[in-house]
Amino acid sequence: MHSVGFMKVVGGSASVPLARGIAKEARAGFVDVAFEKHRGGFPDGERYVHVVLVQTTHPDPMIVEFLLLADAIRDAGAHRVTAVVPYFGYGRQDKRFLDGEPISAKTIAKHIAVDCDELLTMAIPANPEILKTFPLPTREVSGMPAIGRYLKSAKVDVLLAPDEGALRLAKEASAVADVPFDFLVKERIDSYTVKIEPKALAVKGKSVGIVDDVISTGGTIATAAQELRAQGARRVIAACVHGLFVGKAEANLKACDEVIATDTVLSPHTKVSVAPEFAAAIRALG
Ligand code: R5P
Repeated sequence: MHSVGFMKVVGGSASVPLARGIAKEARAGFVDVAFEKHRGGFPDGERYVHVVLVQTTHPDPMIVEFLLLADAIRDAGAHRVTAVVPYFGYGRQDKRFLDGEPISAKTIAKHIAVDCDELLTMAIPANPEILKTFPLPTREVSGMPAIGRYLKSAKVDVLLAPDEGALRLAKEASAVADVPFDFLVKERIDSYTVKIEPKALAVKGKSVGIVDDVISTGGTIATAAQELRAQGARRVIAACVHGLFVGKAEANLKACDEVIATDTVLSPHTKVSVAPEFAAAIRALG
């Protein structure tokens, strides 16, 4: 049996604050990993424990760190290893875009499966159906309750999905924030440029929250925010699960009054923790 009393949470260096939060919420022990002091890695040799390894697999060195930690944890005798990958790097590569390419999301999952028994992740940017093809039991945990709570306290009047892909997220967050939602139709021109189809939105004089899974270059959010401003929105808050903020993101995001992200990826915009969501999902695993 895997009672909570025998559970330990290990945080990789991409996810230490979130891992601590999950340990607290799940009433499990937190294992400090001496990343530099112990050249061999993992200091805990306990046997027959359930270890929850929390590590965002982005940027790439964090994948290597994840695999080394998982191997060390298994080697130390852990009976059950649950991988919590808050932001799943390569999650957008859910098919062979060109002949001869790997399906990179699946490749990463295959390596996680070597030492882990199950996987929990959040807001996979690709079609969540990809998770069913992973070689270990995988569940997507929603970050929308956390985002919805924040947007409710920020008193937004309406939520907006900047594209159809984000619609399921905006719908879920709107139920928590108890406000209506709408969506835009986006066309991606290239990695940096997007175009939004004209659509009348009921946002005049309103405080609007834009909800997306990922902010990368900020191009999607900036285009949506400009559209909202043009239609008379009074205030625009951009909320995402994973804040990558690459390239000119900060300049692009000046189109918003506020930008918030969760702690799946740490940044100056991290204002919301998804520890309660992951802790609940871990409890539900049994
Ligand atoms: C893809 O469509 C995702 O839902 C995001 O909208 C996208 O990844 C955001 O990227 P960027 O910030 O570069 O526009």
